[in-house]
Amino acid sequence: MFHFVVYGILLVILIMLIWMTYHFRSLSNENDNGKATETESENYKNGLLSSHNFIYAAIVLVIVTILVFTYLIVKGTPVEGHVMEWLNIVVRVMHITFGIAWIGASFYFVFLENALNRTENVRDELAGNLWAIHGGGFYYLEKYKTAPKSIPKHLHWFKYEAYFTWISGFSLLFIVYYFNAKGFLIDTNVFDMSPFAAITTGIGSFVVAWLLYDILCKTSLIKKGILFTIVGVIIATAFAWFYCYVFSARAAYIHFGAMLGSIMVANVFFVIIPSQKAMVKAAKEGKPLNPQLGKHAGLRSLHNNYLTLPVLFVMVSNHFPTTFGFEYPWIILAAISLGSAGIKHWLNLREQGKYSVWVMPVSVLILLATAYVSAPPKPGECKTNINFAEVNAIVQKRCITCHSSMPTDDVIKVPPNGVTYDTPDNLVKLKDKIMQQVVITKTMPQNNKTNMTLEEREIIRCWIEQGAVLK
Ligand code: HEC
Repeated sequence: MFHFVVYGILLVILIMLIWMTYHFRSLSNENDNGKATETESENYKNGLLSSHNFIYAAIVLVIVTILVFTYLIVKGTPVEGHVMEWLNIVVRVMHITFGIAWIGASFYFVFLENALNRTENVRDELAGNLWAIHGGGFYYLEKYKTAPKSIPKHLHWFKYEAYFTWISGFSLLFIVYYFNAKGFLIDTNVFDMSPFAAITTGIGSFVVAWLLYDILCKTSLIKKGILFTIVGVIIATAFAWFYCYVFSARAAYIHFGAMLGSIMVANVFFVIIPSQKAMVKAAKEGKPLNPQLGKHAGLRSLHNNYLTLPVLFVMVSNHFPTTFGFEYPWIILAAISLGSAGIKHWLNLREQGKYSVWVMPVSVLILLATAYVSAPPKPGECKTNINFAEVNAIVQKRCITCHSSMPTDDVIKVPPNGVTYDTPDNLVKLKDKIMQQVVITKTMPQNNKTNMTLEEREIIRCWIEQGAVLK
């Protein structure tokens, strides 16, 4: 009864808020047709707009309250897994969407900077301009050397896409790894620690990484591009190694990405936006601009640009057990990050009209080398005609605790990725994935929780190689 009352109240609030957004829209339309003077109308509109934003924030809050309340009700019941899955879907889609907006803007502005026409017909106050065609329209852009004489009223800032990407990513880290620390974050075969210790280590590492990077940027090393890069790569590799030393390999990869992503958003929050605010303030007061401010913000923004591809790789890495399932997962992680940042460097050079001879081939070689070293070892001999009964016995013993319609595992409450082995047919359907996860990368059973032996993996391999027949 209590649940229904709470849901009822929340639902009524939600409907009222949605109705208010309609009401505001009609008010705004009426105002457009009214006879108010321009400034009056402008002020009125700004007032409406801020109330509007307020209502939208309230709507999001009510939805989150409904989700959290639902979670509290179903906690400990079989529906818990289902609610967590939906939370995962919603936050993940938000994370990807904000991330695309942010990284898209990063690519776009670094491209602008690289491709600006800086010589032909450029007014004195300008750094350059650029013509573009997109979506059936012609665009003409100008970049100022420092700031325009007066700061325009409508100045667009790019910051919320960065903040929201980080907030949604951080929430996802909790939903997938921290709420389930025993299942996903900690691998007792790697390092045994309590969930609290593991979560503190994870979050603490982001702070340490930012401080290290920020200090590095404030030393004179920042002026020596190549040396700075080398030191940066060494420190990043040390982090990759550290994460793989304390967490399950999958979680280690995500933490590496989250660490880079946190540095990126901290660059926006602590350096880029404050510098821009100082620039706008100085311009408004008519004081001389410190050109160092813009330069510094630009450099941090360029660093962010190089980090995008490694972070994108980490975001999809969970689907590729070949990468994190390798014996030394940190080597693959560091190498792919280096190779993909190299490719970004080549693209940036190309946009500036410079064609580097070696950057692309070396980056591609690094990536190919990772594919080569992570290849499976040469298989041994198989005995002829493996019996399905033998395979099924192994699956019942090692997989069914998680992969069944009613899992009995202490952490997994819904079949992971919907994969169940209740019927033999599913084994045949998923044989390629099983080969990948059980035999080649040995990422299944997860953290080898059910203690599968190497002999059992060999039997599965031979059965699949002999055609995965059900007899
Ligand atoms: C302790 C729980 C657990 C056990 C035991 C376990 N798995 Fe998994 N399995 C998972 C989880 C969790 C995932 C999802 C991982 C992810 O999201 O990438 C998964 C995913 C998979 C996938 C990938 C599905 C896909 O769509 O990508 C396969 C294949 C798989 N498991 C096979 C097996 C086999 C075969 C066994 C037995 C030898 C086994 N698993 C034992 C937890 C388990």
